[in-house]
Amino acid sequence: MKEKNNDTAFFGQPKGLSTLFFTEMWERFSYYGMRAILLFYMYYAVSKGGLGMNQTTAASVMSIYGSLVYLSNIVGGWLSDRVWGPRKTVFIGGVLIMFGHIVLSLPMGLIALYASIALIVAGTGLLKPNVSDMVGGLYSENDRRRDAGFSMFVFGINLGSAISPILVPWAANGFGIHMFGNEMNFHAGFSLAAIGMFFGLMQYYFGGKKYLSNDSLLPTDPIDHDSLIKILKKSAVAVIAVIVLLVIMAACGQLNIANVILLITIVAILLPIYLFVVMLRSKKVTKIEHSRVLAYIPLFIAAAVFWGIEESGSVVLALFAQERTVLHIGSWHFAAANFQTLNPLFIMILTPFFVWLWSKWKKQPSAAGKFSWGLIFAGLSYVVMAVPGLLYGTAGRVSPFWLVGSWFIVEIGEMLISPIGLSVTTKLAPAAYSSQMMSMWFLADAAGQAINSQIVKYFSTGTEIQYFLIIGGVSILLGLLMFFLVKKIDGLMAGVH
Ligand code: PHE
Ligand code: ALA
Repeated sequence: MKEKNNDTAFFGQPKGLSTLFFTEMWERFSYYGMRAILLFYMYYAVSKGGLGMNQTTAASVMSIYGSLVYLSNIVGGWLSDRVWGPRKTVFIGGVLIMFGHIVLSLPMGLIALYASIALIVAGTGLLKPNVSDMVGGLYSENDRRRDAGFSMFVFGINLGSAISPILVPWAANGFGIHMFGNEMNFHAGFSLAAIGMFFGLMQYYFGGKKYLSNDSLLPTDPIDHDSLIKILKKSAVAVIAVIVLLVIMAACGQLNIANVILLITIVAILLPIYLFVVMLRSKKVTKIEHSRVLAYIPLFIAAAVFWGIEESGSVVLALFAQERTVLHIGSWHFAAANFQTLNPLFIMILTPFFVWLWSKWKKQPSAAGKFSWGLIFAGLSYVVMAVPGLLYGTAGRVSPFWLVGSWFIVEIGEMLISPIGLSVTTKLAPAAYSSQMMSMWFLADAAGQAINSQIVKYFSTGTEIQYFLIIGGVSILLGLLMFFLVKKIDGLMAGVH
């Protein structure tokens, strides 16, 4: 590999960015395409091509699945740092993800669903944190193109995420030519997700050979034999403990989906707490770093609440689209699953505006101030969704523009949380815990979705008004509360902006 910072072949950025851009674009294409139809696949009647699950269970599974996908990045980050190096870890992850979609493309029912979840949870944990990590690795410390490179990368995420909720449901609906009669063929949709990941892998494999540095083939902190044995022993103990727990639950007649989901929820909430405690008590953390970790706690909580609402778009808003929304504008018809394109679409539309705003606005709020506004926008996006029920009752169908408006508002919030949070996370990280801190950013989303898995069950047409008002209200209140903490948090950040 040539000099890191001289290569400008990809829109002024190193050519390696193109490889990582398209890898993540295809991976997100497959993930969000699959998610767009998965909810409906789970609860549609068997006669309509679904699995015939209970709707509330399906909603919970969607959320806990989303949580696990980002929980597993802890393991993926560790394997890359200590065993495989990022290049290989990402490739293995991509292969697992592709098989995860292939499994769902076969007509094998519930078994395939669980196998697919396991493969995609493991695969995404290996792939996602390490692709992002390699983007950072393309630039030397003082390369001014770094921020722009990350912005382009995030654009790739959203480009992939925006296209697939159009194409995957279209495949599942018989490609517009009623190929499967009037039934859905979800498996055709999942096949398309698998094909997307296949393109991503090919492109990654050949592009990576040419454009990614050989450093990425090595772990940064290779593990020695003794430590490896120790870790393997610990992991074995953990696995046995889980098995014992499950056996006990089974013996007590308590082994069911709801309880397994509850268990994962508890882990997803305890894990970040544990990691915070470790960092705060570590001798490797200096005084200033200690203060910065403290500052990160309220930001983490705000992010978890924000992602809880944002990620409920593929569950709660998807149900609203299916059950309560008129699915055409004039003669233009669309599927409920297509609404999932709105989130990434609005991000792509809003990003240039916010880039401009932050470059022009001299007295812009600090990260904590932006987070407060992010929570308020997230809350408002929910409050808006209570209005159609209040105006017209919850029995009929309402204009699709309610959902369009709600997504627009929550995406303003996402612009205030997502890029800001990512950058502040890296800056607040103690030197000794930089990759663990990066994981924290994923864990905020995981915690939000874990909480969702416990509450989405209460969403139905009968409860929608209360549901949107209560959760939206809580988010707005937390946002207001955070305004009072802004000065304090800014102080604790000790010079970081
Ligand atoms: N939509 C985001 C993504 O796919 C969700 C996310 C946020 C994931 C934060 C991880 C961390 O990248
Ligand atoms: N909004 C989703 C993510 O942040 C697609 O990128």
